[in-house]
Amino acid sequence: AVDGQGRRVFELKAQAGESDLGHGATRTWGYNGSYLGPTLRAKRGEQLVVNIHNGLGEPTTVHWHGMHLPAQADGGPHRPIAAGGGMFQAAWKLDQPAATLWYHPHPSERTEAQVYRGLAGMFIVDDPATDSAQLPHEYGVDDVPVIVQDKVFDGSQLSMSDRFGSDIGVLGDELLVNGTPGPYLDVQTERVRLRLLNGSTARVYNFTLEGGRQFAMVGSDGGLLARPYMTDHLRLSVGERAEIVVELKPGEHLALRSERPLPDFDFGNRKFQGGEDSFDVLQLRAAPTLRKSPELPAALVDTPRLDPKQAAAKRDFTFSGRDINGDGMDMDRVDAVVVKNTTEVWNVENGHDTPHSFHIHDVQFQVLSIDGAAPPEPLGGWKDTLFLEPHRKFSVIARFADYADPTTAYMFHCHVLRHEDEGMMGQFVVV
Ligand code: C2O
Ligand code: CU
Ligand code: CU
Repeated sequence: AVDGQGRRVFELKAQAGESDLGHGATRTWGYNGSYLGPTLRAKRGEQLVVNIHNGLGEPTTVHWHGMHLPAQADGGPHRPIAAGGGMFQAAWKLDQPAATLWYHPHPSERTEAQVYRGLAGMFIVDDPATDSAQLPHEYGVDDVPVIVQDKVFDGSQLSMSDRFGSDIGVLGDELLVNGTPGPYLDVQTERVRLRLLNGSTARVYNFTLEGGRQFAMVGSDGGLLARPYMTDHLRLSVGERAEIVVELKPGEHLALRSERPLPDFDFGNRKFQGGEDSFDVLQLRAAPTLRKSPELPAALVDTPRLDPKQAAAKRDFTFSGRDINGDGMDMDRVDAVVVKNTTEVWNVENGHDTPHSFHIHDVQFQVLSIDGAAPPEPLGGWKDTLFLEPHRKFSVIARFADYADPTTAYMFHCHVLRHEDEGMMGQFVVV
């Protein structure tokens, strides 16, 4: 809805309910429904207002993952929305490239449990200036959200204890796509765009197509790539997104799969981090005759590279145990003070054997290097979340523009949600 002042208004209510996830009636949570939430969508330049209602029996927040917005609206753990009817209004002006973002709870120490229960949703940013008519863009027809989550069931209920007791949290043995078990998609067009979101709490996926079919990656976390990147596999760690375009032949059934995401890790990591696991994710069922889709464009968007020579500060963060630079999360400690409208280089090192997933609020960053080398093409676009393979050094660059608020912090953290809850998180303010 659009209000009298031309602002786009969304209503979100976190609530408990019951869902059929393939095991009878399962107690779940969702926004405006019983599992997950509506796909929110708005155009660059719009003023947004989201009225968030908490109908749960415990505090929650809603965080806008990947969104550039004032710290007050960011939904971090400092401003819990009270249980049993509390309300919070987040407002900001949408100003960033077209992208597939998402929203999820971010309360202190309860993020894993709340996301696992079903609280999450997609947020699609449109940008009339760059939206390519050549990319499939009919929502629900040839442009489809694919929220991938793994679950463990104990009878009819969700369980948070997995077989392995992995140190990254729950590794489920069943997958849901958009809350649907055994999902398929009827495809009516030659090409279909899938907006992949790893909305799991811990698991890493390595998306492939049956038979090693190639597909085109067209977007990463924060926007479209410079050009389509053809590949036969794509790895997404927790919280990461990618947009891909798959070409289908009339009448065929083709499975989107996830295959052994950590093949080059040592044995313990492969086994206990889910690195050996493979799944069918989504079956694509092409109609016997398919409507024509335009050819993929050769070029997508032109994104200038941020220049490390312009960086006002360089910071180093080492991830080990459950700490960043030897410290766990402390809501009263600010770890970095960033000056508004400056660019910074953050060097992030994973100092041990456990993989992590590095996320910064408010900004989209560019990857400068991995172990000193230029990043591969899929990591060449805007990112807000980055898979931190063990014993590697990553260097990223971001511009902290527009919003300053010395009294309200943004977070940076491991997006493996158990790690986040256990304190693998720090805070920065922009002044
Ligand atoms: Cu998606 Cu601070 O998180
Ligand atoms: Cu975030
Ligand atoms: Cu971690």
